[in-house]
Amino acid sequence: MDIPLLDLKAQYQSIREEINQKILEVASSQKFILGSEVENLEKEIAAFSEVKFATGVSSGSDALLVSLMALDVGEGDAVVTTPFTFFATAGAVARLKARPVFCDIDKTSCNISPEKLEELLEDQSKGHQDLQIKAIIPVHLYGQCADMNPIMNLASKHDLFVVEDAAQAIGAEYPSSSGIKKAGAIGNFGALSFFPSKNLGAFGDGGMVLTNDENLAKKTKLLRVHGSRDKYFYEVLGGNFRLDTLQAAILRVKLKYLESWQQKRMEKASYYDNAFKESGIREEGPIQTPETLYKDKGVKSYHVFHQYVIRAEKRDRLKKFLQEKGVPTAIYYPLPLHLQKCFSYLGHKEEDFPVAEEAAREVLALPIYPELTSDQQDFIVSSIQSFYKG
Ligand SMILES: Cc1ncc(COP(=O)(O)O)c(C=O)c1O
Repeated sequence: MDIPLLDLKAQYQSIREEINQKILEVASSQKFILGSEVENLEKEIAAFSEVKFATGVSSGSDALLVSLMALDVGEGDAVVTTPFTFFATAGAVARLKARPVFCDIDKTSCNISPEKLEELLEDQSKGHQDLQIKAIIPVHLYGQCADMNPIMNLASKHDLFVVEDAAQAIGAEYPSSSGIKKAGAIGNFGALSFFPSKNLGAFGDGGMVLTNDENLAKKTKLLRVHGSRDKYFYEVLGGNFRLDTLQAAILRVKLKYLESWQQKRMEKASYYDNAFKESGIREEGPIQTPETLYKDKGVKSYHVFHQYVIRAEKRDRLKKFLQEKGVPTAIYYPLPLHLQKCFSYLGHKEEDFPVAEEAAREVLALPIYPELTSDQQDFIVSSIQSFYKG
């Protein structure tokens, strides 16, 4: 059975007429830069994510970069984040000549560990004052929010900004101490990505910066267009971080379906959970299915399953075995950021963040998308079962 890792063609087929119509409208208008499509998308995403302000930008990477720029992060500053994330999270910090400071993850969620974050921040305030920690970037990995209540408490205790990397988690909900909140709506900023494979994916690159702070929203809009309010007069150093009109138009069509697609992703995840339970291999130990931490806390979109990631013994051999059976899988991420060549100047070594390193050896993302069928899921589970049972 040949099963795609992600089937974007199937999604396109289901909304083809509407999308094509929108593309034609933009083509007829010949207006490609910002304009009403971008403004409307910003309003719609702000409503969807329950924030006051949203700014469309060129990518999720730029959403992080612009957020940090708006907070004046730069040389001499440090930003704490997880080593178990996509490069762009720490890349945005380093591009501004600030220092990424890594903090190990929680084994169950693979998100930044609040306990380790507390230790790190306490240590810092006890004497290692060589670094001026300015912000924290928690990442809502795979579609489940990091544990934001303790993170926000620590941020307020140590007077730090919080930029949520919500690139993988649009619409995911978190039971915050002030009520249920959407990913990206809790910190000073939230960064979304519309990379084509994301739960809400464009036909190219795109991203969005979320905030509830009017001044920060204004600054973000300024930074997006070279720091210029009036044409050819520049108030601050910005860049070209605009979201394309065409992408905004396409995203507006897709946004209408997002809620139902997320629901289907959650159903597929539950189907996997049950199938693995029935197969017996989960209890025997060679694999662990993902845990949903907020499911019983009155939260509807407790995990939006951008990825369904199992932990597997003999992971690399399992991956090869599945590939031969026509089941592609992916590893997010094979090498934590502290061990990447580009960050060697930070001076880290193996075992510095053992939980992240262990995750990098064990995680395996299985196909998950709204169009995945139960026959395909049964095949994937029984293939994994046959690998372990021989
Ligand atoms: C956790 C995380 N952060 C940041 C990004 C960057 O987003 P983009 O690819 O839109 O630049 C991604 C997506 O690839 C991501 O998964």
